[in-house]
Amino acid sequence: MVIPPEIQLSPEAFEWLSRLVYDQSRICLGDDKRILLASRLAQRLRDLGLGSFEDYCDRLAAPDGADEVTELIDLVSTNHTRFFREPVHFEILRRLLPELASRAARDGRSLSLWSAAAASGEEAYSMAIVLAESAGERSGVGWRIEASDISRRMLERCRMGIYELSKVHLPTAVWRARYFLRGFGEREGMARVKPALRRRLTVRQVNLFQDFYPVPLDQDVIFCRNVMIYFDQPSRVALVERLTAQLAPGGYLFVGHTESLIGIPHALESCGPSVYRRPG
Ligand SMILES: C[S@@+](CC[C@H](N)C(=O)[O-])C[C@H]1O[C@@H](n2cnc3c(N)ncnc32)[C@H](O)[C@@H]1O
Repeated sequence: MVIPPEIQLSPEAFEWLSRLVYDQSRICLGDDKRILLASRLAQRLRDLGLGSFEDYCDRLAAPDGADEVTELIDLVSTNHTRFFREPVHFEILRRLLPELASRAARDGRSLSLWSAAAASGEEAYSMAIVLAESAGERSGVGWRIEASDISRRMLERCRMGIYELSKVHLPTAVWRARYFLRGFGEREGMARVKPALRRRLTVRQVNLFQDFYPVPLDQDVIFCRNVMIYFDQPSRVALVERLTAQLAPGGYLFVGHTESLIGIPHALESCGPSVYRRPG
């Protein structure tokens, strides 16, 4: 988007906005992101009828500014994702399921998995497909997936489960027909996750840095992928500690391929490419 010269993002306004974004989400906007931020917010200023970024800062700081802060985080977060991204992780998940399922059966509970930066849901639905495909291999162990993100806009898409058909690339062609309904008429070119799979997901807004996670403890598997890259080192250290505490003993944490825990003190065992296990 071209930013009109009369709406320029001054260094002071950029610093104020990036501090607010950091305080709310731990997303770091370095100085090199000033133009990007200005272009992402230009349309928002127009929609609000505001003439400058200073007016926008005042709007955010107003006593009733909380909803606008949520909008701001939605606009600055990078939500790129796709089905079966980093496919080796889904293969590892498939191989771990018998072990995880028998432990859950022994403890008399269901399997719990969490996609902790789910964006528009492709990751959580990919996990659900792996679970659904493996269900026949296990006897009577239930399973649920928590799908959460900080972005309300993304979570709405996750809840809807509607995607462009051309982007529903799954490792096996038959899975598309098994787990998706094809749109027709106005929905031609779109596909929707079938209700049986959608019902497996609990979709809710969770900021990874909020005080308390409204997600059950003892998660068997947590995917927290391609989000730590946006955080600074102290935030990563704190996050890994919190996610570890959220895992069941013997549970697994998956992070993005570019996000190994090297340099982060942790209590986990490394057991695959960006895959870690809580001892126990
Ligand atoms: C690039 S997407 C990753 C999606 C998926 N995990 C994947 O690997 O394809 C990063 C997501 O992290 C979310 N995010 C950023 N900061 C967050 C925070 N503090 N708490 C929760 N989610 C956050 C963003 O809204 C975005 O949807």
